[in-house]
Amino acid sequence: MVTYVDDATAPLKNTGAIRLYGPEAFEGLRKAGRFAAECLDAVTELARPGVTTQEIDDFIFAYAVDRGAQPATLNYRGYNKSVCTSINHVVCHGIPNDKPLRDGDIVNIDVTFVLDGWYGDSSRMYPIGEVKRAGLRLIDVTYESLLLGIAAVKPGNTTGDIGHAIQTYVEAERCSVVRDFCGHGIGRLFHDTPNILHYGEPGEGVPLKPGMVFTIEPMVNLGRPHVKVLSDGWTAVTRDRSLSAQFEHMLGVTETGCEVFTFSPKGLHKPPYVV
Ligand code: MF3
Ligand code: CO
Ligand code: CO
Repeated sequence: MVTYVDDATAPLKNTGAIRLYGPEAFEGLRKAGRFAAECLDAVTELARPGVTTQEIDDFIFAYAVDRGAQPATLNYRGYNKSVCTSINHVVCHGIPNDKPLRDGDIVNIDVTFVLDGWYGDSSRMYPIGEVKRAGLRLIDVTYESLLLGIAAVKPGNTTGDIGHAIQTYVEAERCSVVRDFCGHGIGRLFHDTPNILHYGEPGEGVPLKPGMVFTIEPMVNLGRPHVKVLSDGWTAVTRDRSLSAQFEHMLGVTETGCEVFTFSPKGLHKPPYVV
């Protein structure tokens, strides 16, 4: 059974009920989403061969603190960086370190901030130097799958419709959808109900209602969908070591469809990023 609750009257914890946000909350989430998107825009020039992911982490920490926001991942369940940087066969939750990015890498940079109490969560792929055709194609397929998922967001549809749209397209492109991680409700909590699976059947899952706010963040592999988590407890990699890509947007359901809070103000939606 699915229950919905007006966010204005609900306790600030995950009770399993799905929160419905009003116009004031949407304004806070719009600002937080835009903040994340502007930060990802600013990172574009930094993501190049020779730069370390720790340098990107330092940049993002300073970006947030200088502007009155907090990196939400810092000290989140023992994670101690301001960003996740997932390179090549790393699926998600890559931890920044002192190794330089190399020509030909593909990197997902995933930022989450808290701004005035509201969470903003988004990620993009960044090609480093000259990337081979297979990697560029994977990035394109992943971004397109996210747009198809977003296009399925409207009242009357369900979370299963989103997953189905993503999975059908990805598999038709002979890629695979990671099952072990999903999108999530978000608001004044980082990870809230409902889970947004990136695979599924039409009509399954939770009916979408105006006021729901969640992320869609498909992870797509060139090879098989299976992942394992390394001994650091975070880094998820493809078991077959095939390349993996991810994009993430955060959105609110409206009467007629949805409002995406994390589109790039500079039009840097997917590579090639022309700055
Ligand atoms: N930003 C990630 C997401 O999209 C969560 C990262 S949690 C961390 O949900 F602890 F790994 F940083
Ligand atoms: Co997320
Ligand atoms: Co994220």
